[in-house]
This record gives sequence, structure tokens and C-alpha cells, in this order.
Amino acid sequence: MKQQGFGSAHGKIILIGEHAVVYGYPGIALPMTNLKIHVSVTPRQDNTISLPTFQGRLDNLPPPLIFISSLYARLQTLLSLPPLDIVITSMIPESAGMGSSAAIAHAIVRAVYDLIDHPLAPEAQLAHTQFSENLVHGASSGIDALTTMHDYPWYFVKGKPPIQIKIKMDAYLCIVHSNIQGSTKEAVSKVAQLYKQNIAQSHLESLGLLVKLTQEALEKQDIDDLARLLNQSHFHLQELGVSHPVVDRMVTTALAHGALAAKITGGGLGGCMLGLFDKKNQAEAFQNVLQKQGYQQSWIVDLNQ
Ligand code: PMV
Repeated sequence: MKQQGFGSAHGKIILIGEHAVVYGYPGIALPMTNLKIHVSVTPRQDNTISLPTFQGRLDNLPPPLIFISSLYARLQTLLSLPPLDIVITSMIPESAGMGSSAAIAHAIVRAVYDLIDHPLAPEAQLAHTQFSENLVHGASSGIDALTTMHDYPWYFVKGKPPIQIKIKMDAYLCIVHSNIQGSTKEAVSKVAQLYKQNIAQSHLESLGLLVKLTQEALEKQDIDDLARLLNQSHFHLQELGVSHPVVDRMVTTALAHGALAAKITGGGLGGCMLGLFDKKNQAEAFQNVLQKQGYQQSWIVDLNQ
């Protein structure tokens, strides 16, 4: 065993298909490779942890972060780990729909295997993170675990081999945090309630179709089609009850400032929204407008990757 183990991972955004992917419809997600999480693990007397939002004993983690102690317990049983000091530094905002929980899990798994100097098969890595994600989301589709593990975009359908895609479009996304902590678990269970009442089905089906058409629009590099489809998806997510008044206001602001489309990205109930722009300076102008309104966390993604 080494004296210390290291692991890292990155964030992600969902372009389209959030929530519908939980029900077996497709989703398209992109990695945010510049948004990194780094983890170091060091054998210690007791299990301790340090994160941007919590420092202390591993068994004192607040409820939204308990998945970390459950993941440690799983790895501990499997690999006979000693107690660890886990130090996490992260550029990914928590509860923002940017894959923070999946990236934390990947980075911890990588760090632990590095510590014990044991090869880590991609399937095992994905399975550990998916275990963790199921605790975080209630029932997770797997799109976050996949996209925070690799450096390329995916067309994802639960239970099927994922398809790596290339996105080459003269377009930009501006992702902005609403400053409201979303809860993916709550949002997923809200949709499940509507599903039980037969209210969600038609929206989920429409979202599934929009994702398929989005894939075609990306292949044809048709930004107008892409914009239309993203705008429609925001409507369906609103109808599923996973938007938030602040996010809706930001969407309206984006459309009033040159965005061709704007929508929630991720689980919703807060978290982030995205705007689609055909010019980088427009994306930056929108970013500035929202910064002046107090939305300081934002990122521009070039879709010509
Ligand atoms: O982690 P988030 O907030 O990006 O949510 C993931 C997307 C959902 O479709 C809402 C849930 C899932 O498991 O796919």
C-alpha cells in the first residue's frame, strides 16, 4: 500500500433528456472537463473528511453527503481498507446538476485503488459510482456516472450500450447557476409521483422524441432545429414540475438577450440553466448581464469540440 492515493474526475452537463433518461428514454450529456474534483486519501487512526462544505468525521456527514460514507463502507468491505483521511477539493458546485456527486464518487474510487496500488477496471469503477449515484438520486439512470468518467459526449439510454458522439457545431452554451441548491432526489421523486398519476408519461415520451431529433440536429449541424428542440424540452420539464421560478426568470432573460434557446440543465428545482448562442460574444454578454444580477457562477462551453 502507498502512503497516499490520488484520484480526480470532472463535471458534466445534460444537454437534453434529463428525467426522461430515468424512464428508459435517451439523454445527451457533455463532460465539463475543466471543472475538476481532486481527492487524496491517507491512512489515519479515524475516518475523517474535508470537503468545501464540511470538515469532520466521516460518520458525521450531513444527509446530502452521506453517500460518501456509504461508498467508503462498500470499498472498505471489498478491499479491506484502513481508516482514511479523505480530502476533496472541488470546482463543481454541489446540488447544481453538474455531476458533483458522481465526480466525487469517481475520484474517491480512483484514489482508493491508487492507494492500494490495485488496477481498476472501467466496469468496476462505473459500478462503484453507480452504487453511490443510486443512493444520491433514489434511482439513477447512470448518465452522470458515465459522463463524469470520460472526456467525450454521450447519447445514453439506460441499460443499453452508450454511444459516444461528436458535437461539432458553431455554437456556445452559457451555463449559469441559479444560486439555488437543487435536489435531484426530490425532483426525481416528484416526477415519479406524476408518473403514478399518469400525468408524466406524455411529457417523458415527448422528451424522448426531442432527444432523438436533437441527435439528428447535431449530426446535421442545424442550430435552429437544436434551439427549437431545447426550448420545447424546457416546456416539458416545467410541466413535470422540476423547474423553479428563478430558473424560469433566467431562461426568459437568456431569450431576451440573444439566446436561441434556454432550459434547465440537470435535475432541476434550482441548480443550473443553459442558454444556446450562435456567437461567443452573445454568450459572454448574457453571462455579464446575469453576473450583474448576482449570478456569479457561470461557464461557457464551445460546442465545436
Ligand atoms: O445530477 P443531476 O441533477 O444532473 O440529475 C441527473 C439527471 C436526472 O435525469 C434528473 C436523473 C438521472 O438519474 O438521470
